[in-house]
Amino acid sequence: MSFPVMRLRRLRANNNIRRMVRQHCLQVADLIYPLFVTPGANIKKEISAMPGVYNFSVDRLLVELTEIAGLKIPAIIIFGVLAASQKDSLGSGAYDPNGIVQQAVQAIKEKQPELLVITDVCLCEFTSHGHCGVLKNNNVDNDATLELLVKTAVAQAKAGADIIAPSDMMDGRVAAIRQGLDENDFTNVPIMAYAAKYASAYYGPFREAAGSTPQFGDRKAYQMDPANSDEALRETRLDIEEGADMVMIKPGLAYLDIIWRIKAQFGYPTVAYNVSGEYAMIKAAAQKGWIDEKKVVLETLTGFKRAGADMIITYHAKDAARWLKGDG
Ligand code: PBG
Ligand code: ZN
Repeated sequence: MSFPVMRLRRLRANNNIRRMVRQHCLQVADLIYPLFVTPGANIKKEISAMPGVYNFSVDRLLVELTEIAGLKIPAIIIFGVLAASQKDSLGSGAYDPNGIVQQAVQAIKEKQPELLVITDVCLCEFTSHGHCGVLKNNNVDNDATLELLVKTAVAQAKAGADIIAPSDMMDGRVAAIRQGLDENDFTNVPIMAYAAKYASAYYGPFREAAGSTPQFGDRKAYQMDPANSDEALRETRLDIEEGADMVMIKPGLAYLDIIWRIKAQFGYPTVAYNVSGEYAMIKAAAQKGWIDEKKVVLETLTGFKRAGADMIITYHAKDAARWLKGDG
């Protein structure tokens, strides 16, 4: 049927009919809010390329939590930020039972037991060289790194982490972490695997925040080549076979096709990471008055849902949760 019998504008005529036929709806329950935690007390330091996002000491983080829980955001993901003097070549701060992430998780679970705490498993925030694993001849040694990732995941679970999210892109890490968790009686702790993580320039503001820029070279020998899409399916298939419960695509905006293919192929709970550089672009344009921040953020996050994401890790989570309250 075509014009003049079929007129698609009939179902767009007013707000209520648009609400009724709306296919994809962003909800607060879809959002995961990232938080950066650093040793010390009374620290709340804004990250320069990420207005509205801070490095927190644990005491100040706890204040922030009340707001997050009040907005009904179901989950947060925690990243550790260390001073250069607190890092070493083996990234021991990542798996120290008293490491900053472990301290934060314990304190958070005491204060807000219902809020789901996801922990990022990687060494780059803790290594002096800034790479995601252990170096051997200036190359990241895959299998030696696995042991440290397992120690990190187990330390995080012992501290009370609800979900473990490996972001290192080593081969075999999901299987190794699953086994490590199971051997330590954490059979019920799910793994949210950064399955398709690309070597992206969009991580710039995060690396500035975490001080995790590699001291030499880049991450192209372990993170994916942005030009590849079939490989993302292989990465995801392996992570699922190794025991991943949820799969993540990162970054989000330049990779919506990957989100779509992974969701269509595997039908697993699928997470989009709306990364730091994507946040910075919207914030900068909004500050200049060039775009309407609220409308652009909600349109962007809805785009992730339409592409197939069930969940979105986003620095916009608090704002979006506030805006969604007045909506629908
Ligand atoms: C650690 C990690 C990174 C991000 C999340 N976990 C940085 C990187 O791989 O260099 C990036 C998040 C963001 O840009 O918002 N491997
Ligand atoms: Zn890393």
